[in-house]
Amino acid sequence: MLAYSPSTASSTASSAAAPAIPLAPVLSAASFRRAAGAPARTVLDAGAYRLVTSGRVAIALALRELGIQAGDTVLVPAYHSPSMIPPVLWRGAAPVFYRVTADAGVDLDDLAANIGPDTRAVMVTHYFGFPQDLAPIRALCDARGIALIEDCAHAFIGEHGGRPLGSWGDYAIASSMKFLPIYEGGALVSSRHDLKNVRLRSAGAGFEAKVALNSLEKGFAYGRLPAVRAALWLPLRAKAALWGMLKQGMNKRDNKSAALAPASSDSSFDFDPRWLDKRSSLFSRALLRAASPARIQALRRRNYQRLDEALRGLPGVRALHPRLPDGACPWVFPLLADEPETLFARLKARGVPLTRFGHPLWQGMDAQTCPNAALLSRRVLALPCHQELRAEELDWLIAAVRKEVLA
Ligand SMILES: Cc1ncc(COP(=O)(O)O)c(C=O)c1O
Repeated sequence: MLAYSPSTASSTASSAAAPAIPLAPVLSAASFRRAAGAPARTVLDAGAYRLVTSGRVAIALALRELGIQAGDTVLVPAYHSPSMIPPVLWRGAAPVFYRVTADAGVDLDDLAANIGPDTRAVMVTHYFGFPQDLAPIRALCDARGIALIEDCAHAFIGEHGGRPLGSWGDYAIASSMKFLPIYEGGALVSSRHDLKNVRLRSAGAGFEAKVALNSLEKGFAYGRLPAVRAALWLPLRAKAALWGMLKQGMNKRDNKSAALAPASSDSSFDFDPRWLDKRSSLFSRALLRAASPARIQALRRRNYQRLDEALRGLPGVRALHPRLPDGACPWVFPLLADEPETLFARLKARGVPLTRFGHPLWQGMDAQTCPNAALLSRRVLALPCHQELRAEELDWLIAAVRKEVLA
Protein backbone atom coordinates (compact mmCIF):
# COMPACT_ATOMS: atom_id res chain seq x y z
CA MET A 1 0.00 0.00 0.00
CA LEU A 2 2.83 2.38 0.82
CA ALA A 3 5.03 1.21 -2.05
CA TYR A 4 6.56 4.16 -3.77
CA SER A 5 9.85 4.83 -5.54
CA PRO A 6 11.10 8.32 -6.37
CA SER A 7 12.16 9.07 -9.95
CA THR A 8 15.77 9.53 -8.82
CA ALA A 9 17.14 6.97 -6.39
CA SER A 10 19.12 9.49 -4.33
CA SER A 11 16.15 11.66 -3.50
CA THR A 12 15.15 12.00 0.15
CA ALA A 13 13.74 14.86 2.20
CA SER A 14 16.63 15.18 4.60
CA SER A 15 16.47 17.51 7.54
CA ALA A 16 19.03 19.68 5.72
CA ALA A 17 17.88 23.10 4.49
CA ALA A 18 14.86 22.81 2.23
CA PRO A 19 15.35 23.70 -1.42
CA ALA A 20 13.42 26.75 -2.62
CA ILE A 21 10.60 25.23 -4.67
CA PRO A 22 8.19 27.54 -6.49
CA LEU A 23 4.54 27.25 -5.48
CA ALA A 24 3.45 28.66 -8.85
CA PRO A 25 5.08 28.47 -12.30
CA VAL A 26 8.24 30.55 -12.73
CA LEU A 27 9.89 31.56 -15.97
CA SER A 28 12.57 29.25 -17.31
CA ALA A 29 13.98 28.32 -20.71
CA ALA A 30 11.60 25.35 -20.64
CA SER A 31 8.59 27.71 -20.49
CA PHE A 32 8.93 28.15 -24.26
CA ARG A 33 9.18 24.45 -25.17
CA ARG A 34 6.52 22.73 -27.22
CA ALA A 35 4.98 19.32 -26.57
CA ALA A 36 4.68 16.57 -29.08
CA GLY A 37 1.21 15.18 -29.64
CA ALA A 38 -2.27 16.58 -29.70
CA PRO A 39 -2.77 20.27 -28.95
CA ALA A 40 -4.59 21.17 -25.73
CA ARG A 41 -7.54 23.50 -25.57
CA THR A 42 -7.64 26.55 -23.36
CA VAL A 43 -10.55 28.65 -22.19
CA LEU A 44 -9.60 31.13 -24.94
CA ASP A 45 -10.76 28.51 -27.47
CA ALA A 46 -14.27 28.75 -26.02
CA GLY A 47 -15.21 32.06 -27.67
CA ALA A 48 -14.47 35.77 -27.90
CA TYR A 49 -12.07 36.96 -25.20
CA ARG A 50 -10.45 39.96 -23.56
CA LEU A 51 -7.16 39.64 -21.70
CA VAL A 52 -7.26 41.54 -18.41
CA THR A 53 -5.08 41.59 -15.29
CA SER A 54 -6.96 39.11 -13.07
CA GLY A 55 -9.86 36.71 -12.77
CA ARG A 56 -11.76 38.99 -10.38
CA VAL A 57 -11.65 41.85 -12.91
CA ALA A 58 -13.12 39.42 -15.44
CA ILE A 59 -15.91 38.51 -12.95
CA ALA A 60 -16.70 42.20 -12.50
CA LEU A 61 -16.77 42.73 -16.28
CA ALA A 62 -19.07 39.73 -16.74
CA LEU A 63 -21.45 41.09 -14.09
CA ARG A 64 -21.33 44.54 -15.71
CA GLU A 65 -22.03 43.07 -19.16
CA LEU A 66 -25.00 41.22 -17.70
CA GLY A 67 -26.35 44.48 -16.28
CA ILE A 68 -26.28 43.15 -12.71
CA GLN A 69 -27.15 45.97 -10.34
CA ALA A 70 -28.43 46.91 -6.89
CA GLY A 71 -31.34 44.71 -5.83
CA ASP A 72 -30.09 41.72 -7.81
CA THR A 73 -28.69 38.58 -6.25
CA VAL A 74 -25.88 36.43 -7.60
CA LEU A 75 -25.54 32.79 -6.55
CA VAL A 76 -21.99 32.01 -5.49
CA PRO A 77 -20.64 28.63 -4.35
CA ALA A 78 -20.27 28.34 -0.58
CA TYR A 79 -16.77 27.02 -1.26
CA HIS A 80 -14.99 29.92 -2.92
CA SER A 81 -12.05 32.27 -3.07
CA PRO A 82 -12.84 35.46 -1.13
CA SER A 83 -11.71 37.34 -4.25
CA MET A 84 -14.93 36.24 -6.02
CA ILE A 85 -17.23 38.27 -3.76
CA PRO A 86 -16.06 41.93 -3.99
CA PRO A 87 -16.97 42.20 -7.72
CA VAL A 88 -20.57 41.21 -6.80
CA LEU A 89 -20.68 43.86 -4.07
CA TRP A 90 -19.13 46.40 -6.45
CA ARG A 91 -22.22 46.01 -8.66
CA GLY A 92 -24.41 46.67 -5.60
CA ALA A 93 -25.75 43.11 -5.82
CA ALA A 94 -26.00 40.57 -2.98
CA PRO A 95 -24.12 37.25 -3.02
CA VAL A 96 -26.20 34.23 -1.97
CA PHE A 97 -24.27 31.05 -1.23
CA TYR A 98 -25.37 27.66 -2.57
CA ARG A 99 -24.07 24.39 -1.21
CA VAL A 100 -21.41 22.11 -2.61
CA THR A 101 -21.07 18.36 -2.19
CA ALA A 102 -18.35 16.62 -0.16
CA ASP A 103 -16.12 16.35 -3.24
CA ALA A 104 -16.64 19.99 -4.27
CA GLY A 105 -19.36 19.31 -6.83
CA VAL A 106 -22.37 21.60 -7.23
CA ASP A 107 -25.34 20.67 -5.02
CA LEU A 108 -27.88 21.14 -7.80
CA ASP A 109 -30.93 20.85 -5.53
CA ASP A 110 -29.62 23.53 -3.20
CA LEU A 111 -28.67 25.74 -6.14
CA ALA A 112 -32.18 25.45 -7.55
CA ALA A 113 -33.74 26.06 -4.13
CA ASN A 114 -31.79 29.31 -3.80
CA ILE A 115 -33.03 30.82 -7.06
CA GLY A 116 -35.36 33.66 -6.13
CA PRO A 117 -37.15 36.43 -8.00
CA ASP A 118 -34.04 38.68 -7.83
CA THR A 119 -31.52 36.04 -8.92
CA ARG A 120 -29.80 37.16 -12.10
CA ALA A 121 -26.71 34.98 -12.31
CA VAL A 122 -24.92 31.96 -10.88
CA MET A 123 -21.17 31.40 -10.65
CA VAL A 124 -19.89 27.84 -10.95
CA THR A 125 -16.25 26.96 -10.26
CA HIS A 126 -14.21 24.14 -11.80
CA TYR A 127 -12.25 23.65 -8.56
CA PHE A 128 -8.58 22.73 -8.91
CA GLY A 129 -9.03 22.17 -12.68
CA PHE A 130 -11.54 19.31 -12.25
CA PRO A 131 -14.50 19.95 -14.60
CA GLN A 132 -17.98 20.30 -13.11
CA ASP A 133 -20.79 18.64 -15.02
CA LEU A 134 -22.29 21.79 -16.47
CA ALA A 135 -24.98 20.36 -18.75
CA PRO A 136 -27.69 20.16 -16.02
CA ILE A 137 -26.66 23.54 -14.60
CA ARG A 138 -26.85 25.13 -18.05
CA ALA A 139 -30.31 23.60 -18.51
CA LEU A 140 -31.45 24.92 -15.12
CA CYS A 141 -30.16 28.43 -15.91
CA ASP A 142 -31.95 28.40 -19.27
CA ALA A 143 -35.19 27.17 -17.72
CA ARG A 144 -35.11 29.83 -14.99
CA GLY A 145 -33.80 32.68 -17.15
CA ILE A 146 -30.58 33.30 -15.23
CA ALA A 147 -27.05 33.75 -16.54
CA LEU A 148 -24.23 31.28 -15.95
CA ILE A 149 -20.75 32.60 -15.16
CA GLU A 150 -18.30 29.73 -15.61
CA ASP A 151 -15.38 30.23 -13.25
CA CYS A 152 -12.30 28.75 -14.92
CA ALA A 153 -9.84 30.43 -12.53
CA HIS A 154 -8.46 26.93 -11.77
CA ALA A 155 -9.07 25.60 -15.26
CA PHE A 156 -7.31 27.74 -17.85
CA ILE A 157 -6.65 24.59 -19.85
CA GLY A 158 -8.94 21.60 -20.27
CA GLU A 159 -11.99 20.13 -21.86
CA HIS A 160 -15.03 18.15 -20.87
CA GLY A 161 -17.43 16.24 -23.09
CA GLY A 162 -15.46 17.28 -26.17
CA ARG A 163 -15.81 21.01 -25.43
CA PRO A 164 -13.23 23.42 -24.04
CA LEU A 165 -13.94 24.53 -20.49
CA GLY A 166 -15.49 27.99 -20.60
CA SER A 167 -17.91 27.16 -23.39
CA TRP A 168 -20.99 26.49 -21.18
CA GLY A 169 -21.23 29.88 -19.52
CA ASP A 170 -22.84 33.02 -20.82
CA TYR A 171 -19.46 34.32 -19.71
CA ALA A 172 -16.40 32.50 -18.48
CA ILE A 173 -13.56 33.94 -16.45
CA ALA A 174 -9.98 32.73 -16.12
CA SER A 175 -6.85 33.51 -14.13
CA SER A 176 -4.00 32.83 -16.56
CA MET A 177 -1.43 33.80 -13.93
CA LYS A 178 -2.19 30.54 -12.11
CA PHE A 179 -1.04 28.53 -15.13
CA LEU A 180 1.73 30.56 -16.74
CA PRO A 181 4.89 32.14 -15.33
CA ILE A 182 3.42 35.63 -15.42
CA TYR A 183 2.89 38.25 -12.72
CA GLU A 184 -0.61 39.22 -13.82
CA GLY A 185 -3.23 37.83 -16.15
CA GLY A 186 -6.90 37.01 -16.39
CA ALA A 187 -9.46 36.59 -19.14
CA LEU A 188 -13.10 37.30 -19.83
CA VAL A 189 -14.46 34.83 -22.39
CA SER A 190 -17.82 34.36 -24.02
CA SER A 191 -19.12 31.79 -26.47
CA ARG A 192 -22.40 33.77 -26.68
CA HIS A 193 -21.42 37.46 -26.83
CA ASP A 194 -18.89 39.32 -28.97
CA LEU A 195 -17.51 41.45 -26.08
CA LYS A 196 -17.29 44.51 -28.32
CA ASN A 197 -18.42 46.73 -25.44
CA VAL A 198 -15.47 45.65 -23.34
CA ARG A 199 -12.80 48.15 -24.31
CA LEU A 200 -9.41 47.95 -22.71
CA ARG A 201 -6.39 50.23 -22.63
CA SER A 202 -2.77 49.97 -21.62
CA ALA A 203 -1.98 50.38 -17.94
CA GLY A 204 1.17 52.30 -18.84
CA ALA A 205 4.92 51.88 -19.19
CA GLY A 206 5.51 51.47 -15.44
CA PHE A 207 3.12 48.53 -15.31
CA GLU A 208 4.66 46.93 -18.41
CA ALA A 209 8.16 47.23 -16.95
CA LYS A 210 7.13 45.93 -13.52
CA VAL A 211 5.40 42.86 -14.95
CA ALA A 212 8.31 41.87 -17.20
CA LEU A 213 10.92 42.44 -14.50
CA ASN A 214 8.91 40.66 -11.85
CA SER A 215 8.51 37.55 -14.02
CA LEU A 216 12.24 37.49 -14.75
CA GLU A 217 13.21 38.08 -11.12
CA LYS A 218 10.86 35.32 -9.89
CA GLY A 219 12.61 32.94 -12.30
CA PHE A 220 16.05 34.08 -11.10
CA ALA A 221 15.03 33.67 -7.45
CA TYR A 222 14.38 29.97 -8.08
CA GLY A 223 17.60 29.39 -9.98
CA ARG A 224 16.08 29.53 -13.44
CA LEU A 225 17.57 31.40 -16.44
CA PRO A 226 21.10 31.76 -14.97
CA ALA A 227 22.61 33.07 -18.24
CA VAL A 228 19.95 35.77 -18.57
CA ARG A 229 20.49 36.65 -14.93
CA ALA A 230 24.22 37.09 -15.46
CA ALA A 231 23.63 39.22 -18.57
CA LEU A 232 21.12 41.43 -16.77
CA TRP A 233 23.07 41.77 -13.53
CA LEU A 234 24.07 45.40 -14.06
CA PRO A 235 20.75 46.71 -15.43
CA LEU A 236 18.90 44.95 -12.60
CA ARG A 237 21.14 46.55 -9.98
CA ALA A 238 20.41 49.93 -11.56
CA LYS A 239 16.70 49.12 -11.60
CA ALA A 240 16.71 48.18 -7.92
CA ALA A 241 18.23 51.55 -7.04
CA LEU A 242 15.77 53.39 -9.29
CA TRP A 243 12.84 51.42 -7.86
CA GLY A 244 13.86 52.34 -4.32
CA MET A 245 13.89 56.02 -5.21
CA LEU A 246 10.55 55.76 -7.01
CA LYS A 247 8.93 53.99 -4.07
CA GLN A 248 10.25 56.59 -1.62
CA GLY A 249 8.75 59.32 -3.77
CA MET A 250 5.43 57.48 -3.92
CA ASN A 251 5.35 56.98 -0.16
CA LYS A 252 6.02 60.67 0.33
CA ARG A 253 3.08 61.58 -1.88
CA ASP A 254 1.03 58.77 -0.26
CA ASN A 255 -0.46 58.37 -3.69
CA LYS A 256 -2.24 55.03 -3.89
CA SER A 257 -3.28 55.57 -7.50
CA ALA A 258 0.39 55.31 -8.46
CA ALA A 259 0.40 51.53 -7.73
CA LEU A 260 2.09 50.01 -10.76
CA ALA A 261 0.32 46.64 -10.62
CA PRO A 262 -2.98 45.41 -9.13
CA ALA A 263 -3.15 43.90 -5.65
CA SER A 264 -4.49 40.70 -7.27
CA SER A 265 -0.89 39.99 -8.32
CA ASP A 266 0.26 39.94 -4.70
CA SER A 267 -1.92 37.24 -3.09
CA SER A 268 -4.47 39.82 -1.98
CA PHE A 269 -8.23 39.21 -2.22
CA ASP A 270 -8.91 42.91 -2.85
CA PHE A 271 -10.72 44.15 -5.91
CA ASP A 272 -9.77 47.54 -7.32
CA PRO A 273 -12.18 48.81 -10.04
CA ARG A 274 -9.39 51.01 -11.43
CA TRP A 275 -8.05 47.87 -13.14
CA LEU A 276 -11.34 47.12 -14.91
CA ASP A 277 -10.41 48.74 -18.21
CA LYS A 278 -6.74 47.76 -18.19
CA ARG A 279 -5.35 45.32 -20.71
CA SER A 280 -3.04 42.53 -19.61
CA SER A 281 0.64 43.41 -20.14
CA LEU A 282 2.56 42.92 -23.37
CA PHE A 283 4.79 40.46 -21.51
CA SER A 284 1.88 38.28 -20.34
CA ARG A 285 0.25 38.37 -23.76
CA ALA A 286 3.51 37.44 -25.50
CA LEU A 287 4.05 34.56 -23.08
CA LEU A 288 0.52 33.36 -23.64
CA ARG A 289 1.26 33.16 -27.36
CA ALA A 290 4.66 31.52 -26.86
CA ALA A 291 3.69 28.93 -24.24
CA SER A 292 2.41 25.51 -25.24
CA PRO A 293 -0.88 24.52 -23.54
CA ALA A 294 -0.19 20.90 -24.56
CA ARG A 295 3.14 20.94 -22.68
CA ILE A 296 1.57 22.58 -19.64
CA GLN A 297 -1.27 20.08 -19.54
CA ALA A 298 0.97 17.05 -20.08
CA LEU A 299 3.41 18.06 -17.34
CA ARG A 300 0.75 19.06 -14.85
CA ARG A 301 -1.05 15.78 -15.40
CA ARG A 302 2.21 13.84 -15.02
CA ASN A 303 3.15 15.66 -11.81
CA TYR A 304 -0.36 15.21 -10.44
CA GLN A 305 -0.25 11.47 -11.14
CA ARG A 306 3.13 11.18 -9.43
CA LEU A 307 1.78 12.89 -6.32
CA ASP A 308 -1.32 10.71 -6.44
CA GLU A 309 0.69 7.49 -6.63
CA ALA A 310 3.16 8.57 -3.96
CA LEU A 311 0.58 9.71 -1.41
CA ARG A 312 -2.09 7.08 -2.04
CA GLY A 313 -2.79 4.89 0.95
CA LEU A 314 -0.96 7.04 3.50
CA PRO A 315 -2.78 7.30 6.84
CA GLY A 316 -4.78 10.47 7.55
CA VAL A 317 -4.68 11.87 4.02
CA ARG A 318 -6.27 11.15 0.66
CA ALA A 319 -6.65 12.83 -2.70
CA LEU A 320 -9.87 14.86 -2.90
CA HIS A 321 -10.63 13.08 -6.18
CA PRO A 322 -10.16 9.36 -6.77
CA ARG A 323 -8.91 9.97 -10.31
CA LEU A 324 -7.85 12.70 -12.70
CA PRO A 325 -10.42 12.84 -15.51
CA ASP A 326 -9.30 12.73 -19.15
CA GLY A 327 -9.00 16.21 -20.59
CA ALA A 328 -8.48 17.91 -17.20
CA CYS A 329 -5.44 20.05 -16.46
CA PRO A 330 -5.02 20.33 -12.67
CA TRP A 331 -4.19 23.65 -11.04
CA VAL A 332 -2.88 21.91 -7.90
CA PHE A 333 -3.06 18.54 -6.15
CA PRO A 334 -5.84 18.85 -3.53
CA LEU A 335 -4.98 16.65 -0.57
CA LEU A 336 -7.69 16.03 2.01
CA ALA A 337 -6.13 15.86 5.50
CA ASP A 338 -7.76 14.52 8.66
CA GLU A 339 -5.67 16.87 10.79
CA PRO A 340 -5.00 19.74 8.43
CA GLU A 341 -3.82 22.35 10.94
CA THR A 342 -1.04 20.17 12.32
CA LEU A 343 0.01 18.85 8.93
CA PHE A 344 -0.06 22.29 7.32
CA ALA A 345 2.14 23.72 10.06
CA ARG A 346 4.59 20.82 9.84
CA LEU A 347 4.84 21.01 6.05
CA LYS A 348 5.32 24.76 6.16
CA ALA A 349 8.04 24.40 8.80
CA ARG A 350 9.79 21.86 6.58
CA GLY A 351 9.72 24.27 3.64
CA VAL A 352 7.15 22.46 1.51
CA PRO A 353 5.38 24.94 -0.79
CA LEU A 354 1.62 24.61 -0.33
CA THR A 355 -1.49 26.69 -0.05
CA ARG A 356 -5.07 26.45 1.20
CA PHE A 357 -7.93 27.34 -1.12
CA GLY A 358 -11.04 28.98 0.37
CA HIS A 359 -9.31 29.43 3.69
CA PRO A 360 -10.75 31.68 4.96
CA LEU A 361 -14.15 31.82 3.32
CA TRP A 362 -16.12 35.05 3.02
CA GLN A 363 -17.46 36.29 6.36
CA GLY A 364 -20.93 34.89 7.00
CA MET A 365 -20.22 31.62 5.20
CA ASP A 366 -20.35 29.20 8.10
CA ALA A 367 -20.80 25.47 8.62
CA GLN A 368 -24.57 25.94 8.89
CA THR A 369 -24.79 27.49 5.43
CA CYS A 370 -22.77 24.63 3.95
CA PRO A 371 -21.13 21.94 6.11
CA ASN A 372 -19.17 20.59 3.13
CA ALA A 373 -17.67 23.98 2.24
CA ALA A 374 -16.61 24.48 5.86
CA LEU A 375 -14.94 21.04 5.83
CA LEU A 376 -13.24 21.52 2.46
CA SER A 377 -12.01 24.96 3.51
CA ARG A 378 -10.37 23.40 6.56
CA ARG A 379 -9.23 20.04 5.21
CA VAL A 380 -7.89 20.64 1.69
CA LEU A 381 -4.16 21.31 1.44
CA ALA A 382 -3.10 22.22 -2.11
CA LEU A 383 0.28 20.96 -3.30
CA PRO A 384 1.87 22.33 -6.47
CA CYS A 385 1.88 20.18 -9.62
CA HIS A 386 2.76 22.93 -12.11
CA GLN A 387 4.80 22.44 -15.26
CA GLU A 388 7.91 24.26 -14.01
CA LEU A 389 8.59 21.86 -11.12
CA ARG A 390 11.86 20.06 -11.76
CA ALA A 391 11.99 16.30 -11.26
CA GLU A 392 14.29 16.63 -8.25
CA GLU A 393 12.03 19.29 -6.72
CA LEU A 394 8.99 17.03 -7.02
CA ASP A 395 10.99 14.14 -5.56
CA TRP A 396 11.99 16.25 -2.57
CA LEU A 397 8.45 17.53 -2.10
CA ILE A 398 6.97 14.03 -2.22
CA ALA A 399 9.54 12.67 0.22
CA ALA A 400 8.94 15.59 2.59
CA VAL A 401 5.15 15.16 2.54
CA ARG A 402 5.42 11.40 3.08
CA LYS A 403 7.79 11.93 5.98
CA GLU A 404 5.52 14.43 7.72
CA VAL A 405 2.36 12.38 7.10
CA LEU A 406 4.01 9.26 8.49
CA ALA A 407 5.66 11.06 11.43
C1 LIG B 1 -12.06 29.92 -7.83
C2 LIG B 1 -11.49 31.29 -8.07
N1 LIG B 1 -12.21 32.15 -8.80
C3 LIG B 1 -11.76 33.40 -9.05
C4 LIG B 1 -10.56 33.84 -8.56
C5 LIG B 1 -10.06 35.21 -8.88
O1 LIG B 1 -8.90 35.14 -9.69
P1 LIG B 1 -7.76 36.22 -9.59
O2 LIG B 1 -6.92 35.94 -8.40
O3 LIG B 1 -7.01 36.08 -10.88
O4 LIG B 1 -8.43 37.54 -9.48
C6 LIG B 1 -9.77 32.97 -7.79
C7 LIG B 1 -8.49 33.39 -7.23
O5 LIG B 1 -7.84 32.70 -6.50
C8 LIG B 1 -10.25 31.66 -7.55
O6 LIG B 1 -9.54 30.78 -6.81
